[in-house]
Amino acid sequence: MASIAATTVRPARRVEGTVGLAGDKSISHRYALLASLASGRTAIHQYSLGADCAATLECLMGAGVEITHTRTREHGLTVQITGRGLRGLRAPTAPLDARNSGTTMRLLSGVLAAHPFRTTLTGDGSLTKRPMGRVIAPLEQMGARIESHDRKPPLTIHGARLSGIRYRTDVPSAQVKSAILLAGLQAEGMTTVQESAATRNHTELALRAFGAQISVNADAIELAGGQTLHGGEFKVPGDISSAAFWLAAAAALPGSDVEIRNVGLNPTRTALLTVLRRAGANVEEHTEREAGGEPSGRVRVRYGPPKSLTLGADDVPYVIDEIPALAAWAAHGGELHVTGAGELRVKESDRISALVRGFQALGAEVEEFPDGFHLRGGRRLRGGHADAAGDHRLAMAFAIAALGADEPSVISGADSVAISYPEFFATLESLCK
Ligand code: S3P
Repeated sequence: MASIAATTVRPARRVEGTVGLAGDKSISHRYALLASLASGRTAIHQYSLGADCAATLECLMGAGVEITHTRTREHGLTVQITGRGLRGLRAPTAPLDARNSGTTMRLLSGVLAAHPFRTTLTGDGSLTKRPMGRVIAPLEQMGARIESHDRKPPLTIHGARLSGIRYRTDVPSAQVKSAILLAGLQAEGMTTVQESAATRNHTELALRAFGAQISVNADAIELAGGQTLHGGEFKVPGDISSAAFWLAAAAALPGSDVEIRNVGLNPTRTALLTVLRRAGANVEEHTEREAGGEPSGRVRVRYGPPKSLTLGADDVPYVIDEIPALAAWAAHGGELHVTGAGELRVKESDRISALVRGFQALGAEVEEFPDGFHLRGGRRLRGGHADAAGDHRLAMAFAIAALGADEPSVISGADSVAISYPEFFATLESLCK
């Protein structure tokens, strides 16, 4: 996302209060895509307010899906989608723009690969640099043809009648797994995905919630093509990857106490809580309900004296989106050593080099590795001017780190928070004491 707006963040003594969240980004994308392929109407309550999930809706509308939305106090943003059935999308008359959203582009590629027409999927300056070979390879094996620019967007998808495949992912990626499952749902025969490390399972749960049968066991996920999905009423739990920034701040600033309500507690997303405990924070977690297979509830985090934290290749897939928040925690006097995280170089920015540069600009001692970094938070940050490089998670991480600095800090590209969490700076203001 091209963004230049700068925001000043002032130091805070502590963070305190209760936070309610908009819906999870990953789950919102999936419900919208499946609702479009379902029979009947679907209402999705508490849909993510982020620009990424809006991009998914716009792309679906471009492919002929009827979508309306309303906003209420009770349900937040409710999106109503009239399903078109499997392979029921219409050929778009113009390229579909996934903007900054890798999830939109990869998952939609899986959906469109099964539609017998040509679609071009494009994106912004960040997305058009991101690798798409990881979805092109399996979708072409299934029978689609996909043109790209050196395996990067724009993608032109020539959809076809697909055949199910057995595929082993070489990069642990929920997006790749989901693209294959969405294509497999519309293919002939069985599709099986084996993952090199288990990734978030929202697609599997959402498929079940829309009435599909899918078998999930330790080494494979299996789905028969041609199953009818049924629309219904869904509520998206709050986004734990957005909550991560408040949890990191509460863990880092002495005297802090933050409670997050209505947050998604799917075990494939809660490794952050375990990691924060390992880092010394006081973390309480209460599951209160389950809907569509997704548990949700409350999390309370209070400060604890920081311990040094090491994350390696085995941990990284489970906290891939939370590493910027954990770096912000470490900048307050902890220590974080990350390796095995080369995937971060192909996120919304090169999240290793932009993270290292930004934290250094705020005064932290950080060393960069090809597949990670080491941040020593032993000295207090002085504050400074950090560039989020148009990356929403970096903008939020720098803001949380800046709370512990001597001087106010300026974060450029701060408007990128709109990608996943438009209310971020308003909530920051309400929590800071
Ligand atoms: C996502 C999966 C992850 C994550 C991204 C959202 C998803 O990407 O980083 O923010 O919704 O499936 P990968 O699957 O590429 O690791």
